[in-house]
Amino acid sequence: MKNKSNNTIRHNTHISNVLVIGSGGAGLRAAIEAKKSGVEVTVIGKRIKEDVHTVLAAGGINAALGNVDPDDSWKQHFADTMIEGYMLSEPRMVELMAKEAPELVKEIDSWGANFAKLENGKIDQRFFGAHTHRRTCYSGDYTGRSIMMALIDKVKKLKIPIHDSQYVTELLVHNKICFGAMTFNIQSGERTVFLADAVILAAGGHTRIWRKSSSRRNENTGDGFYLGLKAGCTLKDMELVQFHPTGMVVPEEIAGTLVTEAVRGEGGYLVNGNGERFMKNYDAERLELSTRDRVAMANYTEIIEGRSTANGGVFLDISHQSKEFIIQKLPRMYRQFLDTLMIDISKSPMEVSPTAHYSMGGIQVVPDDHATSIEGLYAAGEVTSGLHGANRLGGNSLAEILIFGKRAGEAAAKRSLDMAIQYRSRVVINKAHEKIDGFIKNGSEVARPLQRELRNIMWEHCGVVRNEEKLQEGIHKINQLKKALENLDVRPDSEGFEDLMLAFDLEGSIMSAEATILGAIHRKESRGAHQRNDYKDTSSVFDVNFKITLNNDQVLEVVSEKLPTLSKELEAIVNGTEEITDFKGMLLE
Ligand code: FUM
Repeated sequence: MKNKSNNTIRHNTHISNVLVIGSGGAGLRAAIEAKKSGVEVTVIGKRIKEDVHTVLAAGGINAALGNVDPDDSWKQHFADTMIEGYMLSEPRMVELMAKEAPELVKEIDSWGANFAKLENGKIDQRFFGAHTHRRTCYSGDYTGRSIMMALIDKVKKLKIPIHDSQYVTELLVHNKICFGAMTFNIQSGERTVFLADAVILAAGGHTRIWRKSSSRRNENTGDGFYLGLKAGCTLKDMELVQFHPTGMVVPEEIAGTLVTEAVRGEGGYLVNGNGERFMKNYDAERLELSTRDRVAMANYTEIIEGRSTANGGVFLDISHQSKEFIIQKLPRMYRQFLDTLMIDISKSPMEVSPTAHYSMGGIQVVPDDHATSIEGLYAAGEVTSGLHGANRLGGNSLAEILIFGKRAGEAAAKRSLDMAIQYRSRVVINKAHEKIDGFIKNGSEVARPLQRELRNIMWEHCGVVRNEEKLQEGIHKINQLKKALENLDVRPDSEGFEDLMLAFDLEGSIMSAEATILGAIHRKESRGAHQRNDYKDTSSVFDVNFKITLNNDQVLEVVSEKLPTLSKELEAIVNGTEEITDFKGMLLE
């Protein structure tokens, strides 16, 4: 424990077989699987485990159970996801999700997620945008919380330790092999080196770096992406960021807070400031249950073309449903509007506008085991890329955390069981200390205002609609922020070690922002959530994924890669030319 040079204690050491970074849904599902495979597992998270981002997930989780619409099938779920993702998804990943979701949804229900049930005792399924069938299983509008409670319960039963308030500054990597992580405790500043045979990164996305965001706390700040980049991983399709059509507009302090798609799934409709139900002008068939990108663009267009409400949004109205129905199906929304605005949504409409909601790009992983390009490092959940293409279907991300959390946990445990000795490097650990030490100094810049500036930059320059000029200006402003970062004032002794956390978060946010804008500059087309008003059409030239790495000079490099080819069988499913024997319903267009 003593450092030879100055004789001071530098860190605690914690050893396990598998280390999971992130105590949200993907992390816990991974931990459970690893533990069940027979290895010792440790989970660390920067937030308190009961209050991770997954608990904010609202409307539901998708699985082609066919409980309500018997014609549904995994193949149709696969086709819906590929088509509505504008074919940018990794097909094998989508196939695995569509095939495995039914089993894992039933499993988490049996672990205590307690989804809403039909009279016959089977899990109920509701409509969600752009699904051809009622496929979304739910617990009211707090599905993420239900899933988290079930996972936490299981973790307790399996005696898996969760260390809260651990901020990861570095993945420990030597010779392209990951052997752990360096952390400090956000309250005490105490540093710990977590050593492990395999590490699973499940640290979320980066949508908190937009001014309006459905991430409300120090979550989804892009630190997971930057940890991956620094470790040598590749990021993919960072420009593909989902804007949810319905975030709260007022009060200003919580603008962006999610108003669940379940409101529309349960019959809610959108009306502009002139009282017109406008979705018929954007998707006459599916109306409010069109894809998220289309509904977000519709709301955005109504607002910027001057048909907004007084506060600059549009109305979402469910007041035609009874109060009892709303309290049963949408209890969180009912409370949210009462608590924050004294609005009873069974009597009055809600004001909503688009909000940054989900990072569809992220760390590139192998579909089957979610291995990254760094040996011993796996990733799961929103920190990864591949499943959602250019437009995520609502409800697919909760399915993702279960399926790929499980797969990553299994693979990490297998690696550990196959290893004879644990790998480590003192040099790498010392460098990680130096990085932390380097941040602690008096400077002229303060993290909070810079964080706010970054959020404004992302909203103004890389928001719902983008163009070359705005994006280039955005890069210029990001470069200025990078300079400011060098003079950051970090005084960890003043109020716990939050200052230090903000410094690391800000660096990760800035690098993730830059990667996003670079991807957006390269994708000179409009596709799904990536809308450019200087390139309005989708172009087959951009049937590619954009990959981003950090070179030795710490500069981001972008290359494009052709999309993976679909197998003949999967292509036939997408094209609707296959005889889908377990599917007799609606035909694909
Ligand atoms: O609107 C919602 O309830 C969000 C669901 C999701 O993003 O999957």
